[in-house]
Amino acid sequence: MNNKDIYIVGAGTYGEAMFELAEILGYKVKAFFDEDEKKLHESIMGVEITDKFSNLSCQEIKGKQFIVAIGNNEARFNIMNEINSLGGNTPSLIHPTAVISPSAEIGIGVYIQANVYIWTKVKVNDFSIISPNSVIAHHSTIGKACLVSTLTGIGASIKVEDKVFIGMGSTIVTGLAYIRENSIIGAGAVVLKNTERNSVYAGIPAKKIRSIK
Ligand SMILES: CC(C)(COP(=O)(O)OP(=O)(O)OC[C@H]1O[C@@H](n2cnc3c(N)ncnc32)[C@H](O)[C@@H]1OP(=O)(O)O)[C@@H](O)C(=O)NCCC(=O)NCCS
Repeated sequence: MNNKDIYIVGAGTYGEAMFELAEILGYKVKAFFDEDEKKLHESIMGVEITDKFSNLSCQEIKGKQFIVAIGNNEARFNIMNEINSLGGNTPSLIHPTAVISPSAEIGIGVYIQANVYIWTKVKVNDFSIISPNSVIAHHSTIGKACLVSTLTGIGASIKVEDKVFIGMGSTIVTGLAYIRENSIIGAGAVVLKNTERNSVYAGIPAKKIRSIK
């Protein structure tokens, strides 16, 4: 196996986007996996969707590199954990136009897209996605398996806990301390106060619109 060979779990539109990022970084995508039977043996981006990920044996995962191109935070977290526990690898992929402070820490299985700016002493934990043109200001932390959508601004010294979804164009304003775990921030929200866990917030200023069961 070439150490630039890689496999993509998830043959949807995000799978195609991750294919392009992988190729830019010199990886060779060998196959896609998808749970949708109807997609099997079709090709996307010129590469075959060979099997369901759930059909792979431990031997087929061990020692191989995987991208998990799934937007759902819980599903991505579970599959990434499974791959790593079976001896596979989930490398982080960082677009060459992203600017990452030398004092920032980036976990494994993190995808940082074009024109992202990650400032001083930011920590991005495992399996999180930072979408294009987002800014994470200094001393902030992004938890495990978060999805920060395109054009988001996260202020300084803010702790975004695990499995948070932040919609497009949101602003999380410096001065608040926490975005609690498993919460959703709606597109275009301006969040001025700490949020509760398992809750959906939207609007300017952002207000809780419902709980997540
Ligand atoms: C916030 C969000 C998750 C709410 O979804 P939902 O729970 O299905 O809520 P609904 O669509 O039923 O809307 C509930 C109410 O909130 C309002 N609302 C929904 N999203 C809103 C937003 N982003 N900003 C302001 N108000 C919003 C709706 O207008 C509605 O108001 P009403 O009750 O007065 O009619 C969703 O609208 C959203 O913004 N998702 C982010 C999408 C995104 O950025 N995706 C990026 C993909 S990578």
